[in-house]
Amino acid sequence: MIKIKQQIAAVVGDYIKGLQAEFNEDISALLEYPSDSSLGDIALPCFRFSRALRQAPPKIAADIKAAIDGKLDGVKEIAVAGGYLNFFLNESYFNEVLKGIAATENFGSSKVGEGKVVCIDFSSPNIAKRFHVGHLGTTAIGGCLKNLHEFCGYETVGINYLGDWGTQFGKLIVAYKKWSSEERINERGIEELVDIYVRFSAESEKDDNLNDEARAAFAKLESMDEEYLAIWQKFKEISLREYMKTYELLGVKFDSFNGESFYNDKMQRVIDELRAKGLLIVDDGASIVDLSEYKMPPAIILKKDGATLYATRDIAAAIWRKENYNFHKCLYVTSAGQSLHFAQYFKVVELMGYAWAGDLVHIPYGTMSVGGEKLASRTGNVILLDDLFGEAIAKAEKIIEEKNTELKDKRKTAEAVGVGAIVFNALSNSRIKDTNFVWEDALSFDGNTGPYVQYTYARTSSVLRKAVGERKGFDGYEPLKEEVALVKAVSEFPTKVLAALKDYEPSVIARYALDLCAAFNLFYHNINILKSEGAALEFRLCLTAQTREVLGKALDLLGMKRTEEI
Ligand code: ARG
Repeated sequence: MIKIKQQIAAVVGDYIKGLQAEFNEDISALLEYPSDSSLGDIALPCFRFSRALRQAPPKIAADIKAAIDGKLDGVKEIAVAGGYLNFFLNESYFNEVLKGIAATENFGSSKVGEGKVVCIDFSSPNIAKRFHVGHLGTTAIGGCLKNLHEFCGYETVGINYLGDWGTQFGKLIVAYKKWSSEERINERGIEELVDIYVRFSAESEKDDNLNDEARAAFAKLESMDEEYLAIWQKFKEISLREYMKTYELLGVKFDSFNGESFYNDKMQRVIDELRAKGLLIVDDGASIVDLSEYKMPPAIILKKDGATLYATRDIAAAIWRKENYNFHKCLYVTSAGQSLHFAQYFKVVELMGYAWAGDLVHIPYGTMSVGGEKLASRTGNVILLDDLFGEAIAKAEKIIEEKNTELKDKRKTAEAVGVGAIVFNALSNSRIKDTNFVWEDALSFDGNTGPYVQYTYARTSSVLRKAVGERKGFDGYEPLKEEVALVKAVSEFPTKVLAALKDYEPSVIARYALDLCAAFNLFYHNINILKSEGAALEFRLCLTAQTREVLGKALDLLGMKRTEEI
């Protein structure tokens, strides 16, 4: 497909340049694949040429047709439809396309990122809190973006920037010393930490001394008091132990767990630098960077009492990452609710004179609500990821139990399908769209869902398992329309990968996987692959194998498991 596009672009380009020497637009970028194949296999909208040629698009289309008809190999017919020029390709052409795909090593991947490092800051939960559906977006999107970048040749650094520093840990230490113990947190895990934190909040409302104690405790922690550090370390350990189980289920890996605390001793330098560059001003006791010129509220760097903030740590972290990873881009995947924070601190980094400030990219996603209401741990309006996975896996297990009694590792497949359903659900909408969590949708295995993709993948595997004998070539075979449609769908993979990468948009891959499944299932239902013979059989098996490859890679990119059998 790619080759014929270039041919068309070259011939059309020559024709237009013959009339208008200055014309230098990239015609291959204008070519489209009509979704309705009765409109041709490739279409060229001629509207963009009307200014240069001073003519109406339908007339231009007709003139181009007259000029290039018969000049293109593999093109059966060219038709004019309004301002469009539609190209119909020879069926045998798709035979060649399939061969080309099968001969391409790691089809779909690219080298666009070679030699470049991309840091991806994602998931990054605040420790001592339970992992809930609100964290699913950043974890699934970040994981997918990491896979996508690697697939395109980048070196990636997955960073889990744990929220492990701040005044709340002073509170937690006070609460721990008063009402808990090492045994209790060992036994109850994060649950215990959440409980004592809630208790602290309630009691500190009645007794303000507790807040003073908490402030003092955090100050002690900041000054690296050994006892306090050990307690805090324990909180971290307990939290991570639980998070790791979730990451394992999701198949998400990080290269660094340097969280906010890691930058504790790296902020002074930033503060000194800001001051030296004349950016810090004192406002009502706090040190801020004025951003009014950029129509943003000031970035607060130091509070009245000298305490540092989220932004202070993020600035220090960006500088540290640039110095240590020399990133080409540093991506931050968080909910859109943090957009202002990122815009402010990116601006501060720019004002500090760092040219690479433009390489810091916030990747926001829509907020999630549950039952139409804001997620809030405090009021209990949250769904814990443990519970969600539990339900999904149990449901998958039940269905598998009913359907496929022979399957060997039922639990493993149920896990792949249950988690796959949830991940796919989280990635299939445009990233920025707000979502409302609905149990039935997240657990749905029918229609356009993750399990449908996994099931189709298993179907391709099953066909190939049943095909015995040695594989031969399929020269001269002329594909049927379902086959042409499937070859086209498979051939779109590289374009989709690059589009998803460019817009940091996993949903492009999720939707593509659905389209590919639809094309495969139509082919599978209308044509009896295994009963065919000769070149037809060979072509069909090759097409099934290439579909399986691409579908498998799409699942990998989305962070879902491949299921050979369901
Ligand atoms: N811990 C933060 C939260 O849970 C997310 C951190 C995002 N990354 C960053 N570098 N600020 O909201």
